[in-house]
Amino acid sequence: MSGDLNFNKIMGAGLATAFVILIAQQVSGAIYAPKAPEKMGYFVDVPEEAAAGAEEAELPPDWGTLIPVADLAAGEAAFARCVACHTINAGGANGIGPNLNGVVGRAVASHGGFAYSEAMTGHVSVDPTWSLDALDKFITAPARYVAGTKMSFAGLRDTEARVNLIAYLRSQGSPGFAVPAPDPARQPGGAAAGAAPAATEGVAPVEGAPVGPEAAPATGVAGQSPTQAAPAAPAAATSPAPPNA
Ligand code: HEC
Repeated sequence: MSGDLNFNKIMGAGLATAFVILIAQQVSGAIYAPKAPEKMGYFVDVPEEAAAGAEEAELPPDWGTLIPVADLAAGEAAFARCVACHTINAGGANGIGPNLNGVVGRAVASHGGFAYSEAMTGHVSVDPTWSLDALDKFITAPARYVAGTKMSFAGLRDTEARVNLIAYLRSQGSPGFAVPAPDPARQPGGAAAGAAPAATEGVAPVEGAPVGPEAAPATGVAGQSPTQAAPAAPAAATSPAPPNA
């Protein structure tokens, strides 16, 4: 009799244990049930990067064609993105970023009284001065062009806005900065115009281009002709004076 009872106890304990295990499984299943994500897979938003990459592969803007007709008012409006950190007036104070008066053609990381990042001082080996192309690349994507720069500005991807902005920068303290001749291959008339050797006339030395005081009036800034500063060619043609007979 007592043997039966013991048997029942053992069986009961075994059943109870099995029951507890089953319940525990059910409960943990409910707690840890994997939820399917609403969107499967790892979503990577690439279109903008891809577009930027494509843009990079393109030729730089044809400055000789674009600067003379650039919209300086639109450029000044675009500069609104910069004023939080930069002044542009001559002798203007440094802010979060250096004063940008005359920055077109200015030596990189050279403005007095501003503590540039090592990234920017190191960039001098790539671009000794801020050429139009260098500014274009920097403003498009500062951190991509000068990795580690402390200029925390995402970049201005709109090429037209950038061209106007750079033309405006040039008008503020660097109006004498020589613009290359228009690329004949990119004129509406195309290749035929490219045959004219006169097309190279407007290419003035980029650095230290002598700019007389009279050559720099603000009115000349958006002059229609980038070749204005090149009347040197005719002078050269007349110079070989015949020796005395
Ligand atoms: C959030 C602040 C900020 C904004 C906005 C900003 N900059 Fe800057 N910029 C800086 C800083 C800081 C530096 C110095 C970078 C360094 O030392 O790495 C700098 C450097 C520069 C330089 C190099 C100057 C030199 O002397 O070598 C140029 C050119 C420049 N900025 C142009 C612009 C333009 C154009 C815009 C507007 C489209 C702009 N920045 C917007 C903070 C800013």
